[in-house]
Amino acid sequence: MSVYKLQINGKTVQADVEPDTPLLWVLRDHLGLVGTKYGCGIAQCGACTVHLNGQATRSCVLPVSSVGNSKVTTIEGLSKNGDHPVQQAWNEVDVPQCGYCQAGQIMTAAALLKRNPKPTEEEIETTMSGNLCRCGTYHRIREAVKLAATKTK
Ligand code: FES
Ligand code: FES
Repeated sequence: MSVYKLQINGKTVQADVEPDTPLLWVLRDHLGLVGTKYGCGIAQCGACTVHLNGQATRSCVLPVSSVGNSKVTTIEGLSKNGDHPVQQAWNEVDVPQCGYCQAGQIMTAAALLKRNPKPTEEEIETTMSGNLCRCGTYHRIREAVKLAATKTK
């Protein structure tokens, strides 16, 4: 075991874990940040998506030893009051069904709009197609990303 100092949602936190522990399990089991979900564990579904220095990253395959001083943002840290433009759009469009995949979807969409505030339909499709939704909310997800783009400055 080793002690890792991590920058999570604007705070420095510590976790005493094995170096190969995926960031996902550090977040969920050691830090109580359970908004980030486990879907496949092999980087195929996107349920575990967080931001690493603003980039959408699959935390299920990222060993804690590789995180270093990178700034990690989870769904809990995306906004103070759940009012990030993507979260607002998600509410307005009423996207979620069971909800399980939605934190990952929102984190992927937020990272897209950060690097490209006015994406084309094709760019939205390409980026969001890596996040799976067993409930099939894909149409509402695409609508909400487009709506969020109108709210993003
Ligand atoms: S749980 Fe990480 S991509 Fe599926
Ligand atoms: S809302 Fe149920 S898996 Fe996406």
